[in-house]
Amino acid sequence: MDKLFSIAFVILQCSICLAKISPDYIKPCVGLKSDCLKKNIQDTIPLYVPGIPSIGVNSTDPLKYDLIEMELPGGLTIQFTDGVMTGLKKCIVDDVKFENNEADITLHCDIVIKGKYKAKGQILIVSLNGDGDAKLKITDILLKAKLKFADKVRNGVTHYEVKNYKVSYTIRDKVHFDLTNLFKGSPEISQTVLTFLNENWKEVVNEFGGPIIDFIVNVAFKNVQVFFREIPKDELIVL
Ligand SMILES: *[C@@H]1O[C@H](CO)[C@@H](O)[C@H](O)[C@H]1NC(C)=O
Repeated sequence: MDKLFSIAFVILQCSICLAKISPDYIKPCVGLKSDCLKKNIQDTIPLYVPGIPSIGVNSTDPLKYDLIEMELPGGLTIQFTDGVMTGLKKCIVDDVKFENNEADITLHCDIVIKGKYKAKGQILIVSLNGDGDAKLKITDILLKAKLKFADKVRNGVTHYEVKNYKVSYTIRDKVHFDLTNLFKGSPEISQTVLTFLNENWKEVVNEFGGPIIDFIVNVAFKNVQVFFREIPKDELIVL
């Protein structure tokens, strides 16, 4: 009888372990207290960023994307291809608040974006006709994310889905540009323009950095959305 019981117990345990969808590193926070959430999110980031292929969460560090195309009001056109962003892995979580199905998360990171670019037109007071390699180094970007959650029952399982999210950012240190061939055929002009862009990085980011950063933040948070869509609520939250 004892033996039968222990076999039944093993089977029961195993059906629980098989049914679990979330990776082992996901540990729920009892009562969703700020300190626990802050620590959990901090501990989870480096494990989460390579992606979770079994549930369709892509890698966010490195984060790859094929093409960003923009035409800015001043007539500047920019194409960004073969993009790779790194850095999210080392984000530091500053603060997490959770109330009324809303999470406010503040974190800061250093981010590097690399790729190939083409740009043509006017930026601030200089003309560009560039085609080359681009590297942007963003140091100390403060990200504030607000996520709204709602219960959603699918196939009898309750999920805690991200209904919508908003991310704002402030660059607390600076952006450094490293762009080759900003003015086709003229290394001297290219260098002068590059120096100018770096000296005026704030204005440059205001003019054309926004769409790139928005794009990347959206790709990253789409994956956060998939994560919550796929993992049952009871694996994430213990009240
Ligand atoms: C993950 O990557 C695949 C392939 O590039 C893409 O089709 C899919 O939309 C991506 N998922 C998310 C959530 O971005």
